Parts: sequence; C-alpha cells; structure tokens
Amino acid sequence: MCGIVGCVSKENCYEKILSTLSGLEYRGYDSAGIAMLSSSKTLNVRKKKGYVSNLKGKPLPGETGIGHTRWATHGKPSDANAHPHVSGKFALVHNGIVENFRALKGELLEQGEEFLSETDSEVIVKLIAKAYRGDFFEAVVKACERLEGSYALAVLCSDDPGEIIGVRQGSPLVAGAAPDALYLCSDVPALCGAAEFICPASDGEFIRIRDGNICFCDGNGREICKEFSRVPPESRSSSVMSGTFMEKEIAEIPRALSDTFKSLSATDFAPCARILRGARHVYAVACGTALHAAQAFGDIAESEVRCPVSCFAASEFRYRDPLIGRDDLLVAVSQSGETADTLQAARLAKERGAYVLAVTNIAQSSLASLADFTIVMRAGSEIAVAATKSYNCQLLCLYYLAAQMKYYRVQEFPDWFSQFSSLSSAAEEVFACFPQMSALAAKFKDARGMFYLGRGLDVRTAAEGALKVKEIAYVFAEGYAAGELKHGTLALIEEGFPVFAVSTCSALASKTENALAEAKARGARTVLFSQNVSALSESCADFKCALPVIHEKLMPILAVIPLQYFACRMCLLRGFDPDKPRNLAKSVTVE
Ligand code: F6R
Repeated sequence: MCGIVGCVSKENCYEKILSTLSGLEYRGYDSAGIAMLSSSKTLNVRKKKGYVSNLKGKPLPGETGIGHTRWATHGKPSDANAHPHVSGKFALVHNGIVENFRALKGELLEQGEEFLSETDSEVIVKLIAKAYRGDFFEAVVKACERLEGSYALAVLCSDDPGEIIGVRQGSPLVAGAAPDALYLCSDVPALCGAAEFICPASDGEFIRIRDGNICFCDGNGREICKEFSRVPPESRSSSVMSGTFMEKEIAEIPRALSDTFKSLSATDFAPCARILRGARHVYAVACGTALHAAQAFGDIAESEVRCPVSCFAASEFRYRDPLIGRDDLLVAVSQSGETADTLQAARLAKERGAYVLAVTNIAQSSLASLADFTIVMRAGSEIAVAATKSYNCQLLCLYYLAAQMKYYRVQEFPDWFSQFSSLSSAAEEVFACFPQMSALAAKFKDARGMFYLGRGLDVRTAAEGALKVKEIAYVFAEGYAAGELKHGTLALIEEGFPVFAVSTCSALASKTENALAEAKARGARTVLFSQNVSALSESCADFKCALPVIHEKLMPILAVIPLQYFACRMCLLRGFDPDKPRNLAKSVTVE
C-alpha cells in the first residue's frame, strides 16, 4: 500500500527521506518519488516507476521534502502516476482513495485544468493550488473539505520552505522527532530507524511541521495537545543479513511466542472484566491470515466459554447490518492495526455500543487507539508481506483471551492453559522437519494446484497453509474441511495432485485419514502432518511429518509452521521473492 514520508531538517534531507522510504518498501509498492524544497523556494521532483533504489543519485537540494511509495489504485504503475504530484507552488503525496475524485476532476477540467496523471491524488494538489490565497494551511483545509474517502497527505508549498502540512482522514499518519530532523510517516516501523519519539495522528487532525516544531491542530488551526512516546525498541526497522525476511521471521517464531507469552498477564484484563464475564455474543473480525486466527479463536472460545462466537471477514461484517449492540464484544485482529476493513468493522461495532477488543502487533496503531482494550502481541516487526510469526502470536493471544473469558465466567482455566510456556521450545522442535519440507517443495514445485485438508481446528491451519502457498508461490491451493472433499472437489484430483492433511485432533484423526485415503486412491500424492503417533503409523500417506507433542488444542500454533516454511521454499524454488509477492501489500489501508 502507498506510504508517505515528510522530513524537515537543518541540512539536506534527501538521503533521510530515501532511507525512510526504504523502510516503507515492505508495505508493497510499484513506484516511488521525492519532492524537495530548498530555502531558495525551489521545488524539485524525482519520481520513477519501480524500486526506491531508482531514486538514488545526486541528492536534490533542500532541507524540506516529501516522499512516496505508490501501490497503484487509479492508473497503472508509471513515472507520471508516481507521486509527488505538483500544481503551481504545491507538491503533494497521498495515501488513500478519494472516492469523489471523478466529480472533482470533471469540475477542474471544466475550469481548464490539465492533468498529467490518471491518479485521484492529482485532484487534491490542484484543489489546494486553486484554494491558495497566500495562506498555506487554509488552502489545505479548504481542499480537504471537498474530499470524500480516505487520505493521509503531506504537502509542501514553495512559499514556505521549512514547512510541511500533513493531514489524516482514514489513512494512517504518524509524526516523529529526532534531534536532527522532524518527520511525518505512514507507519511506525518505517519511522523507527529515524525518529526517537513518535505520536500518531487521529482522523481529522492536521500536523504542521515548521519553525523546528511539530504541532497537531484541528481544521480551525486550534492546537491539539498530544503526547509523544519513545520509539519501542522492538519496532525499530530490522535488516536481513542473508536469506529473506520471510525465512528470518519464520526462524523468529519461538522467540516471538516466548516474548508474547511473557507479556501476557491475567491482571491486565481487569479493565475488561465486565464484558469478558457478561458478553452476550462475541464477534471476531479480521482479514486474510488474521481472519484464520480469528476463526480459530471462534472455535476455541465457543467450545470453552459456551457463548456464541461469530467470525466474519471484516469486509463482509461492515455491510451485513450485523445484530451487534450493547453487551456484545467485538474482537478485531490485525497485525498492522491499520487494515481499512478491520478498522471500519471496529468503528461500526463501537457506533452500535459494543465493546471493542483489539489484538495487534503495533501498540500505536489506529486499531489500538480506537479499541476499548488492546492486547499487543510481541511478534516484533514483520517485514515480509506474507504474515508468519504474527499469525502464531495472534493465535497465542487469542487463546489467552479465550482462557480469560472462561475464567471470568466459571472461575476455571481450560486444561491447555498451563502449556503456553512450552510453546516456544515446541516451535523450535518443529524446525527439525524443515529439511523434509524443502525436499517436498522440490518434489511439488511444478504442481499446478494443491489441497490442504483438516477437520476441527485443523481447518484453520489448512486454510492458512493454502493462503501462504497461493500468495507467495503463486500455486492455486484450496484449504478446507476434509469432510467436504467428496462433495465436489474430489473431482479435481488427478495423478500426482498434492494433497496435504493436517490431523492434530485425535477424535477426528480417522476421519481425516479417510479423506486422505480417498484422495490417494485417485492418484493424489499425499502428506500427513500430525503429532499423533498412531495416526502417523496407521496412515496410508506417501509422506509423513511428525510434529512435537503438546496439548492438541494448542496444535494450530505449531502445525502451521511447516506449512509456512514449505510455502517459502516453494516460492524460492519457483524463482520468486517471498518478501515482495506480486500485487500484494503488507498494510492494506484502503478498502
Ligand atoms: C497474508 C497476509 C494478509 C494479512 C491481511 C490482514 O499472509 O499477510 O492476508 O493477514 O492483509 O493484515 P493485518 O493483520 O495487518 O490486518
């Protein structure tokens, strides 16, 4: 997704902007650009299709600048569509979508304006230039009043060197301060390498950087009192010495689980005791990988807590006019805490009077500031677009939440509660199967499709394994309930078709095995993942992967690890970069 940066420094800040833009690369993008404003009131722009590294070269002059990584929405990736966009004295970068841009563009065309790009963003800079009567701030406010949709902006005006105006409406924006420079940025992880103190903006807030200060204000220019916090050490940008971020992040799973577990404390849940004890109906919403975690939470919480739990893709929840209301709990799960659909679902729940509990990796995220209560997982920064360690940590936090809910209701913890402390070492044991996963990836690398089967909680693991291989190895995969195989998809099985089955639930092991046998009988090459010794020994599977033994209800946290690694190996063997899958973005800040 698009990322924006702004920087004001005493010296030339081109390199600072370039390096902060590199920190935003993980979000996914297709072009990048920088506009610099010098003290002699000259604006210079460099923008290019492709990588941030294309902007390297002799720094453009200036102590004030803005930068952008673009993920195409309106108009294909090209130099012309790349940001910053310029009109008269103004340069602008934008993250978000202006929903009424066609009407606004039509109006501007009628007034004789000419457009150099196909983007919705160019409309904004033209509106600002037209509204300008010598007051930079007033022009930005006036233009924003015309916009519908979501946006975070950073704007320069050549009359005001040393000043950047930022505004946030629906898309994330954070201010950052360091001794040698002041910043605006789309996200905390990218800013952490540069800034020492940060402060996120809320919707409707403007940020003015000028005269060596950062000031938050409303549209009338009234100052808003905000508190800056020190950059959390775990958010600082990480770098990968060798291999890929995805491999590094899979390797970090044991530490991430251990850090997350240590950070969870029963007493922290006291502020939400009322709702944990008395919620009438629990809703869980999320997108993508986080949705699989939310669904596993639904399975676990409903069976342990004996209270109805409904899980929805956040994008669906928003538009189904849900019955949610007072005395209901909405659990919103999001690694980034910035996913537009998840945020909107949480806002809707709040509007209807429900209690919103967030599970996120970013304590300063929009979701965390919107929620009534937040569980911050300690996965550490996740750079690869495909989520890995954050999924394991989301599951841990959600299991912990389910356990607290049970305790508040019946003063009893689930019997798996005492085994959380073993998860980290068990995750390390799982790594022993990585050579086997590499060998399987070599065998299956030319597969045109795959099935991932499971029953009970294993359905979630199967779905997540399939998502991983689709998004980074570009192999079509279906992950679903094994019992459904003979209701249609069995028709797709042909000689050599890979079928993976995850079977960690002893009561359902024989049923999963039956599905695998049915697939094998039709020529499938089958792989079984289980911690259950008898399930493994009795299985007809062509390949068997033994998982460490831990309480079977906790197995989803571990059983997904070989599937994450398998997808990564498939991707590399097929010649792709797992950190930057095509068309995808790390932080999906538009609907
Ligand atoms: C898949 C993946 C995505 C995200 C989804 C939600 O590997 O990373 O499916 O899980 O975009 O993102 P967050 O968790 O940031 O809300």
